[in-house]
Amino acid sequence: MMRLDKLLAHVGYGTRKEVKALIKAGRVHVNESTDIKDKTQVDEFHDHITVDGNPIAYAPHHWIMLHKPAGVVSATQDNVHDTVMDCIGEWMAPDMFPIGRLDIDSEGLLLISNDGKMAHRLLSPKHHVAKCYEVHIDAPLQEDDCMRLCAGIELEDFTTQPAQLEIIAPCVIHLTIHEGKFHQVKRMLQAVGHEVLYLKRISFGPLHLDEQLQPGEWRYLDEEEIAALSAIQ
Ligand code: URA
Repeated sequence: MMRLDKLLAHVGYGTRKEVKALIKAGRVHVNESTDIKDKTQVDEFHDHITVDGNPIAYAPHHWIMLHKPAGVVSATQDNVHDTVMDCIGEWMAPDMFPIGRLDIDSEGLLLISNDGKMAHRLLSPKHHVAKCYEVHIDAPLQEDDCMRLCAGIELEDFTTQPAQLEIIAPCVIHLTIHEGKFHQVKRMLQAVGHEVLYLKRISFGPLHLDEQLQPGEWRYLDEEEIAALSAIQ
């Protein structure tokens, strides 16, 4: 059982305020009745709930693609900084969490979900989910640096899997890595004598950052995207 307003917000009918207005306007029916309130407890699996006559489909798991902006931390709570959960609104937040981390100054694709099982799979080192970053560096890479990055480079605590590197402009590269260790990209570049000036994740496994999303904006994943994530072996 859950509150009606929570359920409607959960399935994407808007903020708590917007959902309350829908209920007040008599546009929501629960088992054919409009004698309901935002607080009404409903059975999300069995009650027949409609909005403007359209039945709602309850799916217990949500998947969101956020274009993380710089300046927010990849956590559900922080005493000092805004978090990525602030980007998607407090109402969405209760059981959702970021899938992995981007540094506070990094931008780009961050998944947010409440599907703990799948999150665990995607983050597990066993699956080596590829992550591609657009990286702006202080000076062009030398051929030897490229070879070291691609071969797998020794860091203090581990040796990276071979990475894929594409030179986009003299000081801009696309680097694809297969782990997700703390500050990994920055540390890899540092190991070949370079400083990272800007870092943006442009893909995570089969998903690419939606170019329509500005930093701070988000959208739900579509069914194909969720299926592509589920198919990761
Ligand atoms: N590697 C980093 O160094 N920082 C990030 O935010 C992501 C990958």
